[in-house]
Amino acid sequence: MKARTSDIEEAAGVLRAGGLVALPTETVYGLGANAEDPAAVSRIFQVKGRPPSHPLIVHIGGAEQLDDWVEDVPRAARLLAGHFWPGPLTLVLRRGRRVPLEATGGLETVAVRVPDHPVALALLAAFGGGVTAPSANRFGQVSPTTADDVRAELGDAVDRVLDGGPCAVGVESTIVDVTGELPTILRPGGVVREDLEAVLGHALSVPSSSHVRVPGQHPSHYAPRARVVLVEPEKVVGEAERAGELGHRVGVFLPASCAGAPVKAHAVVAVPGSVAAYARGLYGFLRELDQRGCDLIVASLPAEEGLGLAVANRLRRAAGPRP
Ligand code: TXA
Ligand code: MG
Repeated sequence: MKARTSDIEEAAGVLRAGGLVALPTETVYGLGANAEDPAAVSRIFQVKGRPPSHPLIVHIGGAEQLDDWVEDVPRAARLLAGHFWPGPLTLVLRRGRRVPLEATGGLETVAVRVPDHPVALALLAAFGGGVTAPSANRFGQVSPTTADDVRAELGDAVDRVLDGGPCAVGVESTIVDVTGELPTILRPGGVVREDLEAVLGHALSVPSSSHVRVPGQHPSHYAPRARVVLVEPEKVVGEAERAGELGHRVGVFLPASCAGAPVKAHAVVAVPGSVAAYARGLYGFLRELDQRGCDLIVASLPAEEGLGLAVANRLRRAAGPRP
């Protein structure tokens, strides 16, 4: 059931008491703690099984609070915050004294965003402080996009789960580092590169998926249990049948360009033709194929423009070498 005002007040109390609250955002569900409580922040790492060197995002209630959390806000950061907050954009800036090193993995920079979800904003307003929240999944796994996903993923390890319905964007925020001379994209996400470039007035580079720039950006991430194999769209059906003949329980992401094509496989997901719908459904599709017992998923990449850049990035990582 969707969170009510009383649930939100209670959840704010849980945060004040040092507890963990799973909260909906427009991108994915987060596992939240009081950003200024080092013990609560450390519990996030324990529950996720995430190495403590991996920095977290501090969620705040509005752009006007930015200066409370960071130092030296460059013009580009104000511009981007003004245009895209609340929204799926995270800015990396110099850490303010209020942010404990536990939240930044020891870095002198901190990632900050204002989420665009009524329940998240109501929680931030009721709580009054900042909430550090990584995606509410175990380390390396698929991010949750519904409250049920969170419960299945974390169970009793989280003190409260606020239900805000399915996430509207479905992939994580775009992370932009604004500490250098020119802003750079660290992770493609819900705010698309083209829109960032239009606001900034210059081109932005995107790192290749295999290049680990900061802890938490490893090649294998966002991964279902099943192994993921990426092929050209026109080869998906053939590859799925070949793997099936080899004895795999194959799940197929059937590209929209092959919609309706007959395919022999254990489970088939029809990829939506709109890339926004693909992004919204992506993690749910991966979870579904895991739940249906697939051990191999055959998929192809969407065109790497607009939201397709983030979808392709997550699929590449899901297909990346496992530790
Ligand atoms: O959409 C999202 O961003 C979601 C929702 C819950 O807000 N959160 C999320 O958090 O995706 P997480 O912890 O799964 O991913 C945060 C990413 C990590 O990959 C980490 O490397 C990067 O943010 N990050 C955090 N602080 C950083 C910093 N100071 N410098 C560079 N990267 C940083
Ligand atoms: Mg994550």
